[in-house]
Amino acid sequence: MSVDQLEGVARALVSPGKGIIAIDESGATISKRFAAVGIANSEENRRAYRELLLTAPGLAEHISGAILYDETIRQSTRAGTRFTDVMRASGIIPGIKVDKGTKPLAGFPGEVATEGLDGLRERLAEYAGLGAQFAKWRAVIRIGEDTPSSTCIEANNHALARYAALCQEAGLVPIVEPEVLMDGAHDIDVCYEVTEAVLRSLFASLYEHNVMLEGAILKASMVIAGTDCDEPSSVDDVAEATVRCLRATVPALLPGVVFLSGGQSDAQATAHLDAMNRMGPQPWPLSFSYGRAMQQAALKLWAQDMHGQFAAAQKVVVQRARENGQAALGQWRAGR
Ligand code: 13P
Repeated sequence: MSVDQLEGVARALVSPGKGIIAIDESGATISKRFAAVGIANSEENRRAYRELLLTAPGLAEHISGAILYDETIRQSTRAGTRFTDVMRASGIIPGIKVDKGTKPLAGFPGEVATEGLDGLRERLAEYAGLGAQFAKWRAVIRIGEDTPSSTCIEANNHALARYAALCQEAGLVPIVEPEVLMDGAHDIDVCYEVTEAVLRSLFASLYEHNVMLEGAILKASMVIAGTDCDEPSSVDDVAEATVRCLRATVPALLPGVVFLSGGQSDAQATAHLDAMNRMGPQPWPLSFSYGRAMQQAALKLWAQDMHGQFAAAQKVVVQRARENGQAALGQWRAGR
């Protein structure tokens, strides 16, 4: 696939007023999300829940793409239509999570590295055959007393760059996601410093691995005080610090930046994105690729009565998509 084709997909993912829904929870993660609301973690429940999300009427007005998990990309609706065909018909681009999660980084207590490069070329070819047009790989950086180490940052970014190059070879747009976790008591300034160091190193690694920035998307965490910090960040602080950090580190050639929600409440995730977009035009569109902040309200409702609340839960997820779509334009009107 040419760089122009990759760029076309990347730009479509961040087209005005649209963002991505992340429904790529691994087996372990979806089990946690279901347990929290009392849903049994069966294959049929996982399938039914993803059907609820992907077939929600009107979702495609605000959603450009959905990131699926290995199990999900192979599944179909109850009526037998493949999820990827449902998505194609409504104009939602299929994406796929391809990392295999994190493992402790040997020699660096408390730090992790993301695995999944072995056999990735073959897996990407298979996913492309199943209809995926973009992929996601998540690296995890934890802020602690003595972390992150430069070794942890470099090891994770090296893997992200190798993944991104393999994606482009396979004709898939890589979403590169170095998540700086919100866990901890650090303040917003420490989060800024760490995020800046991570992003500088990431773009150096992408350059060294000949990754074409025109055909890639950054999935970033926001610059925000840790969840246990005594001084919580205001919406304006988060917006200002996040935009400043991105402007200092992210090349203008990149087609777009999308954010993860990382444990923020629904309202916070939307308010922060909206405030950033109200700051005026940036070198790249700033949009969303939320998992929890798109889904948690709908999941809670569905859990009350899977058949009875199916349509109501679909309306809730579309409402979250609408509000985040407004925030991607800096035009959020809460509840509208
Ligand atoms: P959250 O928005 O729930 O953080 O999930 C986004 C995601 O895909 C993390 O990899």
